[in-house]
Order: sequence, then structure tokens, then C-alpha cells
Amino acid sequence: MTTVPELPDILSPEFAIDPYGAYRVLRERAPVYWHEGTQSFVLSRYADVARAFRDPVFTTANYDWQLEPVHGRTILQLSGREHAVRRALVAPAFRGSELRERFLPVIERNARTLIDGFRRTGQVELVGEFSTHYPVNVIVDMLGLNQADHARFHRWYTAIIAFLGNLSRDPEVAAAGERTRVEFAEYMLPIIGRRRSELGEDLLSTLCRAEVDGTRMSDEDIKAFCSLLLTAGGETTDKAISAIIANLLAHPEQYAAVRQDRSLITRAFAETLRYTPPVHMIMRQPAEDVAFPGGTIPAGSTVTCLIGAANRDGERYRAPDSFDIFRDDLETATAFSAAADHLAFALGRHFCVGALLAETEVEVGVNQLLDAMPDMRLAHGFRPIEQGVFTRGPAELRLEFSPAQGRPV
Ligand code: HEM
Repeated sequence: MTTVPELPDILSPEFAIDPYGAYRVLRERAPVYWHEGTQSFVLSRYADVARAFRDPVFTTANYDWQLEPVHGRTILQLSGREHAVRRALVAPAFRGSELRERFLPVIERNARTLIDGFRRTGQVELVGEFSTHYPVNVIVDMLGLNQADHARFHRWYTAIIAFLGNLSRDPEVAAAGERTRVEFAEYMLPIIGRRRSELGEDLLSTLCRAEVDGTRMSDEDIKAFCSLLLTAGGETTDKAISAIIANLLAHPEQYAAVRQDRSLITRAFAETLRYTPPVHMIMRQPAEDVAFPGGTIPAGSTVTCLIGAANRDGERYRAPDSFDIFRDDLETATAFSAAADHLAFALGRHFCVGALLAETEVEVGVNQLLDAMPDMRLAHGFRPIEQGVFTRGPAELRLEFSPAQGRPV
């Protein structure tokens, strides 16, 4: 076990600017590292992080303090049958025919509406004008909530993500997260009450109808589920879309290949998830002592799994710090399933239930962006900067393009 003081500090400003060099040092010199600031053991190697996601000895009890104070109790904390039954309530909407037939038109419409707002202007700040709105609008529509309240949803999920990533325990961030729980409950509980008497085809009605082991989900349970879906589906896909565009624009020959052959968008997305995952850290709590090659982690301690470091492990990927959509050591066909060989969606029982929805949103979004601005390029003098330690993505993405080339709506 390593406690050497000169090891990188994952709470330092230098780490926030560029975590990738620190990830390399941790993988090589301190694969199991006690980090004082977060009071957690940090794992950075691919094999160790994959094991922590797959092995049920690593419980998700950390969400009792990391998320329950803002969401209420959600499937992230559950295990066994209770977890499987509740997850099965929403899973069908996020895959297969329900996703394609019921929700694809919702996804396409939401992308088009936002792109129509800037396609004739010749310039756009993609994060602020597109990617922060698009996935949350999709999930709001899927739940049958009111898009006019978008600004509130956005404020709420931003506060919840900040609470989740509040590694330095900033009291203001904690207070904003707790305010969100109160405000979200005041907003959602009356809607859930009304929806129960006017059931429709939306996802909220599905949750209202659902019975778990013969018992209806309580209003509180449903509210917590919606809060999780807005956060998990909003912040992550938001970062993924701006990251795939930033990565392609930084690699013009790969961007040209994707423009020529749109079927490559899926490969580019899988590689984006590996190279610049939207979620860089996920925590776990082992129920028993667990021995790793780099040291033993005692039962009950908190473990920080560095997805961003594991996805760039040279033991797993050739030239791990290169963005290469044609790499042969990342399987695209399984990249959005629990058999994925990158760790951006975690692995095992809690593997992201929205992975295929995210893939569909990115494919539709990138296709429509390429249609509207095929010659998009970074605005003159602009260089994207990544932001965030827990979740991470471009802070801004200023683009220029020829408005005349946007096809008529
Ligand atoms: C690129 C986009 C996305 C990324 C990178 C991502 C990442 C993740 C990760 C890492 C987990 C595992 C958490 C853990 O094991 O502790 C997770 C779980 C989850 N995600 Fe996603 N996610 C994305 C999109 C979505 C979308 C669009 C939705 C749905 C609206 C969604 C809903 C969920 C839910 C409900 C869980 C909990 C699953 C469970 O506990 O069984 N995610 N996601």
C-alpha cells in the first residue's frame, strides 16, 4: 500500500487541469493508493477497476451518503433481486423496439429543434446551445414532464452532480444539493399524484403503473427514480456529445473519415468513451477485505475507481493516450452492453441501463450536426479546455461553419 506524499493529489488544481499525467503515475507507482483528502483507496489500473465493478463484494453502499441525501433511495444502492426487479421497470424503454419505435422520434425532434436555433447563424457554442440541453430535454419528454421547466431541471441536475463529486466536502455544494431534494420533491410529488389518475404512454406512467413484488412503487420511490434518470441521463450524455465533436475536430483525418462514412460515428463514440469518458470516478465499498497485487483494501472502506485512468492503461490498450477510432483493441459491437471492454459505463450489475439510449442520442445528434454544419471547425483562436474531476468534458466548444451549407429545415 502506498502513502508516499509526492504522489499526485486528485483534489489539487493541477490534477483538475490535466489528470492524465497523474493517472499514469498512479497506475505505475501506486495502483492501490490511500488518498487522505477523500479518505478513500484509489484504484487506477484497468484490471483492478474492472474487478471492483464486476465483483459483488464491492457494494454500492457508498451511494447511501453520496446520493441518497439528494435523490432519496435509488437502484444504484440496491442489490440482488430488489435491484433487478426495479431496474427491469425502465430497462425496456432504453433498448430494442421501445427505444426505436417509441422514443427515436422524440430524440430526433429534440436534436432538430435545438440545431434549428443556430444552423443559419454560422457560429455556435455547442456546449451551451446544444449538448447541455439535448439529453435532458429527451429524458423530460420520455417522462412526460414539461419542457418549459428545462432551466429548473438543468439547475437541479447540475447541483446533484456537484453533490456527487463534492470530494472536498464544500458546505455550499452540500447545501445546494439538499435544497434540490426539497425543491424537486415539491415539484414532482403533485405531478406524480395527478399522473396516477391520468395514466398515459410516458415513462412516468410506466413507473406509476409498476408493481414490485405485488406492491406499487411509492410516490417517493418514483420521485427518486426520476431524479436519478434526469441526472444520470443528462450530465453524462451532455459531456459525451461535446467530447466526441471535440475529439474529431482535434483529429481532422478521422473527422473526414466520419463525414464520409457516417456508420463510423458509433466507433468514434466508443473511442470517445474510452479516451475521454464523461464519468471519471465511481466509488464502491467492499463488504470484506480484498487483496490486490498493490495492497489489501479493508472491508467497509471507500474505494475510488478511476475510470479515466483505467481506460488509458497501457497494459490494456496500445498507445492509450492516442485517440484512434480505428484501434483494434476496442470492440464497438459490445461497447454499449455489459460486455463492453471500456469502463465508461462501469460493468457488472450496475452497468449503465441507459447506454443504448446514450448511443442513440449521440448517433442522432452527431448525424444532425454534420448535416447542418458539414464544414464545422473550431472558432478562430479557440482551443477547447476540459473541465471537471468527477464528471469531465469540454467547458465550451466554440464552432464556426458556413450557414449556407445547412440544408433547409
Ligand atoms: C454517455 C452517457 C452515459 C455515461 C457515460 C453513463 C455512465 C454510467 C455509469 C458509470 C454508471 C454506473 C454507476 C455505478 O455503477 O456506480 C451508470 C449507471 C446508470 N445510468 Fe448511465 N451513463 C450514461 C447515460 C445514461 C442515460 C442516457 C441514462 C438514462 C436516462 C442513464 C441512466 C443510468 C442509470 C439509471 C444507472 C444506474 C443503473 C443501476 O444501478 O443498475 N445513463 N451510468
